[in-house]
Amino acid sequence: MTAALRTVLITGTSSGIGLATAVQAAEAGWTVVATLRDTGRADALRAAVAAAGVTERVRVERLDVTDPASVAAAVSGVISEYGRLDAVINNAGVGQLGTVEQTGVEAFRAVLETNFFGVVELTRVALPHLRASGGRVITLSSLGGLIGQPFNEAYCAAKFAVEGFLESLAPVAATTGVQVSVVEPGPVASEFVTHLVPSVPGLIENAGPYEAAFKAYFETTAALFEQAQSSADAAAVVVATLTAERPPFRVQTSDLARELAGIKLSDLDGSAVQAVTGPWLT
Ligand SMILES: NC(=O)c1ccc[n+]([C@@H]2O[C@H](COP(=O)([O-])OP(=O)(O)OC[C@H]3O[C@@H](n4cnc5c(N)ncnc54)[C@H](OP(=O)(O)O)[C@@H]3O)[C@@H](O)[C@H]2O)c1
Repeated sequence: MTAALRTVLITGTSSGIGLATAVQAAEAGWTVVATLRDTGRADALRAAVAAAGVTERVRVERLDVTDPASVAAAVSGVISEYGRLDAVINNAGVGQLGTVEQTGVEAFRAVLETNFFGVVELTRVALPHLRASGGRVITLSSLGGLIGQPFNEAYCAAKFAVEGFLESLAPVAATTGVQVSVVEPGPVASEFVTHLVPSVPGLIENAGPYEAAFKAYFETTAALFEQAQSSADAAAVVVATLTAERPPFRVQTSDLARELAGIKLSDLDGSAVQAVTGPWLT
């Protein structure tokens, strides 16, 4: 089958990796259903799609991953319009900074709602259609899905949950011809950080006994984000995962991500990761 007949649905395409993935998947010849929770925020997407000359291959639809009715409507809309769904890219995600004593449990529930249950629901709804097409599920996890990062407790908990869900599902889905992959970026220069914290100074002031550690954390991550790859570079890895004959389960998007993932995946007693993240706080 030619790529033009293949249809991919992508979540969270208003900015960053999702927007760049929508453009690059269309450039690769796919029909792209680019979804946003607020289609009023599609200007940057539409401009990028037009600049790439792929407007006719990109359809913009509403999908809020925390709203199961909108998930169901978006997937059934793809089937009505194109008769098939060949891939979903679970990209939508939100960050959350702070330690549990600051954020409370509610912040965990909110982040899990988007970053974990959103992935579970779209994957569940898409699977029958992906079985019919021999398709694939690609999900933006994070290095934070492997390595617990200080002051990212809720975010990392959600991404660890994503990895557990999909690592369990992958062999099951494979028995019916559906391939499941997680993509693990390190730092990416997207809108993610600006979406993250309305008031960093407030967070530090409220950090109580962790104030010095939190300040050190911000300095370390600012330095790490100086090495951030672009959204376009991360998206190129997502699209390579979309178009590969047989993508691996786990894909990192940069050398930095590969190096840190390698530390985690051979860290039997947890000390190697603590040796990496502990110094971020001093
Ligand atoms: N940037 C990084 O350093 C980094 C590193 C590792 C992994 N990641 C992961 O990569 C993915 C994309 O992030 P990004 O860096 O491209 O950040 P981004 O620019 O902030 O993009 C996140 C996207 O998710 C959307 N979104 C948030 N809540 C949603 C919901 N309930 N329903 C549908 N869409 C929703 C946002 O839409 P609105 O415009 O409506 O808010 C936005 O389009 C995320 O899963 C993130 O965890 C990012």
